[in-house]
Amino acid sequence: MTADLLKAEIHCHLEGAARPELARAQAEKYGIDISGILGDRGYVWRDFSEFLVCYDAVASLFRTADDYALLTRTYLAELAAANTIYSEIIVSPDHGDRIGLGADAYLAGVSDGIEAARESSGIEARIIVTGERHFGPERVIAAAEYAARARHPLVTGFNMAGEERMGRVADYARAFDIAREAGLGLTIHAGEVCGAFSVWDALDLVRPSRIGHGVRSIEDRALLERLAELGTVLEVCPGSNIALKVFPDFDSHPLRALKAAGVRVCLNSDDPPFFRTSLAREYALASEAMDFTQDEINGMTRTALEAAFVDEDTRGRLLAKLGPEAGDERAEPA
Ligand code: ADE
Ligand code: ZN
Repeated sequence: MTADLLKAEIHCHLEGAARPELARAQAEKYGIDISGILGDRGYVWRDFSEFLVCYDAVASLFRTADDYALLTRTYLAELAAANTIYSEIIVSPDHGDRIGLGADAYLAGVSDGIEAARESSGIEARIIVTGERHFGPERVIAAAEYAARARHPLVTGFNMAGEERMGRVADYARAFDIAREAGLGLTIHAGEVCGAFSVWDALDLVRPSRIGHGVRSIEDRALLERLAELGTVLEVCPGSNIALKVFPDFDSHPLRALKAAGVRVCLNSDDPPFFRTSLAREYALASEAMDFTQDEINGMTRTALEAAFVDEDTRGRLLAKLGPEAGDERAEPA
């Protein structure tokens, strides 16, 4: 049973965490017809490109700082109820600009939601600003400049999500230089829709401590060796990978093989309701569909906390909650 295990995740897109009930309530609030993207069986999309369109349509239902506070605290309450002690939320202040709310108000709403959730459940959370690759390099650079300028205490990382097939990592490297210079942690979506070359590009040009997905690194043994040597953490999202048909089923999913190759990995939900999943389900699948032991699963939670973009005091407190590592003699009864 994984329900009782403490959990952590470092890869979940905020708008991608909106449950259909919340999306319906928002659509009603603003008088928007969402029958094209939300049916009786959930969000409607057939492939990665349609998923991105559906995602942007759901994002457009959140329009005020209060909408964002509600979305954030609703998601964090769901996580806390599943014994999650830490969450990193990927957000796009650019979206705040697109809907006329403004990036500052967008971020204020998200941080109000984080504070409210911390007060009611104790869950700790941080914000990762992302650039959306399919809006082009200028917008991704603008997102990095915003994240650097904001100097917001909860904004601790920078990411790039979106259409991985658009351009090459080199076109976006400047954005990561800006974020690195500002002291933000770096992670980038790579090796999800595109193959191992995209992860090599990310390592060479961005030098991130983590990679979003990175699962197609399995196609290149030299790359696995490089990831293991660098200690780069892959933010693996198995349910997302199966839903988006990156792999046909859990038997073919490379999580176990990546771990066996010495690559550091952890479990994440990505855009949970879009993929009919949740962080709790990802943990359950790791146990039931992928045969990981509780110690192995706790080890992945530990990896997420070790790789989290937080100050060392917070990391220490979170790791202490998780308890000693399996095999550590302090874990043995006296
Ligand atoms: N944005 C939201 N989810 C994503 C994913 N799985 N890949 C790339 N961009 C995303
Ligand atoms: Zn993602």
